[in-house]
Amino acid sequence: MPDRNYCVVGGSSGIGRALVARLRGDGASVLTLSRRSEVANPAGHHVWDATCDPFPEAATGKRCNGLVYLPGSIRLAPIGRLSARDFRDDFEINVVGAVKAVQAMLPDLRAAAESGEGAAIVLVSSVAARTGLGMHASIAVAKGAVEGLGRALAAELAPHVRVNVVAPSLTDTPMAGRLLTSDKQRDMAASRHPLRTIGTADDIAAAIEYLLGADSRFVTGQVLNVDGGLGALRG
Ligand SMILES: NC(=O)c1ccc[n+]([C@@H]2O[C@H](COP(=O)([O-])OP(=O)(O)OC[C@H]3O[C@@H](n4cnc5c(N)ncnc54)[C@H](OP(=O)(O)O)[C@@H]3O)[C@@H](O)[C@H]2O)c1
Repeated sequence: MPDRNYCVVGGSSGIGRALVARLRGDGASVLTLSRRSEVANPAGHHVWDATCDPFPEAATGKRCNGLVYLPGSIRLAPIGRLSARDFRDDFEINVVGAVKAVQAMLPDLRAAAESGEGAAIVLVSSVAARTGLGMHASIAVAKGAVEGLGRALAAELAPHVRVNVVAPSLTDTPMAGRLLTSDKQRDMAASRHPLRTIGTADDIAAAIEYLLGADSRFVTGQVLNVDGGLGALRG
């Protein structure tokens, strides 16, 4: 198999970090982008704030087999306490940032597709886009748009670039840290899921890795719910 090159936006923490470890473990080259500069692989990293910076040109210009966009948010509040600014901020980081990354990386993804190696994009939604959950209005709006973006791009970029979305439920990462501060909180969160557990970063990374690779060559335009059954089951 030729060398595989991936671009992981948000590879410095949580799900993205677990994904980078998996891809590198399989021998792929991985470029990461995020706001912080202190990362394990400074040579393969570009500092980028998806909410305000132009996408760094230096991160482009090389054949790319897969782009993953992970920056997002968990803003939980009753509707009366959410401002218009909150909705805009969640939309900016979850949706507009993903659009910027896709636009910048598309020539490199097309180059990989044209060389016959295959190319894929994976976006990240949330169980809250599909399942009505109280206090989740702003994140549900933003992640619903991510899922719409994923389907539209899948249609537009077929047959060359596959586009899919992964929708996790509560996952044990720094982003979810304040929801998981005690054993009691963890037990309650686990008990809400039919599988009686919460997700790990690696559970979600494994699903993303599948959607990037050749095993999913016949899959595009899908939302893969990796949520312990929360979105689909009663139990
Ligand atoms: N954890 C959960 O329970 C959960 C549930 C459902 C969905 N999700 C979704 O899963 C995705 C990944 O979340 P996670 O839990 O892995 O979170 P995380 O551990 O906080 O990681 C987020 C990553 O995004 C980067 N990032 C954040 N803001 C950025 C910005 N403005 N510009 C560029 N990069 C930025 C961070 O790096 P820097 O700090 O270096 O910028 C980090 O690498 C998110 O889209 C989230 O909404 C998570």
